[in-house]
Amino acid sequence: MSSRSFAEYRAMFAIGDRDLDGVVLDCGGGASSFVAEARATGVRALAADPLYALGAAVLADRLPADLDRGNAMIDANADRFVWEWYGSAERRREMRVDAGSEFMADIRRHPGSYLAAGLPHLPMAGDSVDMVLCSHLLFTWAGHLDREWHRSAITEMSRISRGEVRVFPLVRLGDGEPVDFLDALQADLRAEGLVCAVRRVPYEFQRGAGHMLTVGRRP
Ligand SMILES: C[S@@+](CC[C@H](N)C(=O)[O-])C[C@H]1O[C@@H](n2cnc3c(N)ncnc32)[C@H](O)[C@@H]1O
Repeated sequence: MSSRSFAEYRAMFAIGDRDLDGVVLDCGGGASSFVAEARATGVRALAADPLYALGAAVLADRLPADLDRGNAMIDANADRFVWEWYGSAERRREMRVDAGSEFMADIRRHPGSYLAAGLPHLPMAGDSVDMVLCSHLLFTWAGHLDREWHRSAITEMSRISRGEVRVFPLVRLGDGEPVDFLDALQADLRAEGLVCAVRRVPYEFQRGAGHMLTVGRRP
């Protein structure tokens, strides 16, 4: 579990104001404050993550250790990260803690916005949201989740989204290497009638990971 902020989501997914006109799903939301901060600015957002089944008290207990693990992984691979966006490691850590606190407050106040569910099966109606954002789940865990799982997961997110599905980053955790099945996966999705593109975004933390995958239906 990690806890990125609304500002990080805006950058990772190149989100413009008009992108937030409808309902946005943060899939694999973890302890991100995206939903909490979106709500504060009048944006309708919800999150899905299997971990929400544990309940807020367990998540609150677990979050500090998960954040420590993430920090240790970054310290151990320092040459694989670039710091321009954050400015410093300290600023990044502060953002994680602040976002985690906002998430914890929000899930307690608005539990209905946090759905305990996991890809590749989301218990949501087709076309029920306007955009799906997926941060640091697909591709990040490509060492464990294969091309077929990614195809099913993206097909499922596309089923419930009237608009785009955006996925960031496109590299693996740890070594930050590109995922070797990205091109074949896009071919799979195009064969299902979906439209895919890889787009540059104004955010790079893992060295070389400055692109997102967008998936939508044919107009
Ligand atoms: C690295 S965290 C990213 C959290 C958040 N999106 C962020 O960027 O800070 C990955 C999240 O994906 C969730 N996850 C794992 N398997 C999942 C699945 N099958 N479907 C949806 N989310 C899943 C994990 O529980 C975890 O919270």
